Amino acid sequence: MENEKPEHHVLIFPFPAQGHVNSMLKLAELLSLSGLRITFLNIHRIHHKLILHTDIQFRFSRFPNFQFQTITDGLSADNRPIGKFSDLINRLKSVTKPLLMQMLVSGQLGPTPTCIILDGLFNFIIDVDAEPKIPVFSFRTISACSFWAYSFVPKLIEDGQLPIKGEEDMDRIVDGMAGMENILRCRDLPSFCRLEDPFDPTLQYSVTQTRKSFKAHALIFNTFEDLEGSVLSHLRRRCSNVYAIGPLHAHLKSRLSGEESPPALESYNSLWEVDRSCLTWLDAQPSKSVIYVSFGSVVVMGDDQFREFWHGLVDSGKRFLWLVRSNLVAGKDGENEVPTELEEGTKERGCMVGWAPQVEVLAHEAIGGFLTHSGWNSTLEGMVAGVPMICWPQFADQQTNSRYVSEVWRIGLDMKDVCDRETVAKMVNDVMENRRNELMGSVIETAKLAMTSVEEGGSSYCDLERMIDDIQLLCQRQREAID
Ligand code: UDX
Repeated sequence: MENEKPEHHVLIFPFPAQGHVNSMLKLAELLSLSGLRITFLNIHRIHHKLILHTDIQFRFSRFPNFQFQTITDGLSADNRPIGKFSDLINRLKSVTKPLLMQMLVSGQLGPTPTCIILDGLFNFIIDVDAEPKIPVFSFRTISACSFWAYSFVPKLIEDGQLPIKGEEDMDRIVDGMAGMENILRCRDLPSFCRLEDPFDPTLQYSVTQTRKSFKAHALIFNTFEDLEGSVLSHLRRRCSNVYAIGPLHAHLKSRLSGEESPPALESYNSLWEVDRSCLTWLDAQPSKSVIYVSFGSVVVMGDDQFREFWHGLVDSGKRFLWLVRSNLVAGKDGENEVPTELEEGTKERGCMVGWAPQVEVLAHEAIGGFLTHSGWNSTLEGMVAGVPMICWPQFADQQTNSRYVSEVWRIGLDMKDVCDRETVAKMVNDVMENRRNELMGSVIETAKLAMTSVEEGGSSYCDLERMIDDIQLLCQRQREAID
């Protein structure tokens, strides 16, 4: 590729998981709308599922400068299960990373990219420490506040605040986290902070990838100034290029609405088949009467926890739409009998589906609340839809997100670390009825701020324009360096 004349070209590479691929495809569509040349690199088996369950090929075919490319992580499309997180990381290091280097050198991905927008969960794929020739923009699919909390982990270990000293230490307020004073208790720190060994490989992995993100040319967040301005300003002191361009799903929708013939349906980028029948069920329910329950794409719960939720939902007396993914419950053999009261309560007031069109569900008139695992995409989707939340966070960023939802943004209740039918029933009634008025003021205000940020002149709109200009400038400089 020597003496090649650089042209605008952005390579986007997401971590192979639903929440990551979803938000990075939205970014790819936004950048394609601006006319930039984009290559979206996907792990084979993920791409295979997208082709099976979505219209991505058709949707992106309208961009002449867009291409999909795939790469292996050592597993074929039908290899199941993918194994432990550490196994996946090892395969990405040993199989995917060298292949990517070859693809870049051989020109198989097209002209040398102006920059690579790399998922910050696997910064090691391009060694940002080694000052790569192609600038890396690290895209963090988590909230800015949880990313900022990740960055304090080494300091908390050094101060002796980590490891957490047992259950009695969980409600201690964590000190010394600039921009998050008096907000986080130990139980609100990212889940890997609960590990007893500060040198545990999972914890150290997060520490390393976070540190590497700061070394990247730029940091991108799916968030907006009015939501996380305080943390963003701290982040900007450590990295001069921070772009806050979210909520991406709302941003894309807003920009598409200005197109001549915008796509008719919401884009799902789903790795599962979307079951739209629940929308028909919702059509038959009264306004704001249904609580939508979804624990995202990764959370797995025990059968006992599943039953507590089920009892709680039925006991609440409210209508519910529950997303029960085929792999949501660990070790479920289908042999356990379902008590009559659960069967009848569900027949009367409930609906269960395997995978829902979540954004449309949340926007449906019948939805009055959202019981969520606090994944960042789900949190933003609930926020934009103006739906109050109940949070049951399970891992990584979710513990911090749920604290911000309940204590900072005040748009929901935090059910962290509790899972019994009485609490579930009580919180459902609180969100749907008893504490609804108290929550709805900030819920509506936050939804408005989110929408304003992505409209022309809004903070996320302007940050995306700035990012596109910066990419073009980078390309111009690369050209000048060759001339
Ligand atoms: C996890 C993390 O918690 C998240 O913060 C991180 O950014 C990515 O990994 P996940 O469990 O996938 O994510 O949750 P979430 O980030 O909420 O993403 C799930 C996505 O799947 C959402 O966009 C949601 O709309 C979609 N979804 C979920 C559906 O389309 N239908 C469903 O039935 C359930």
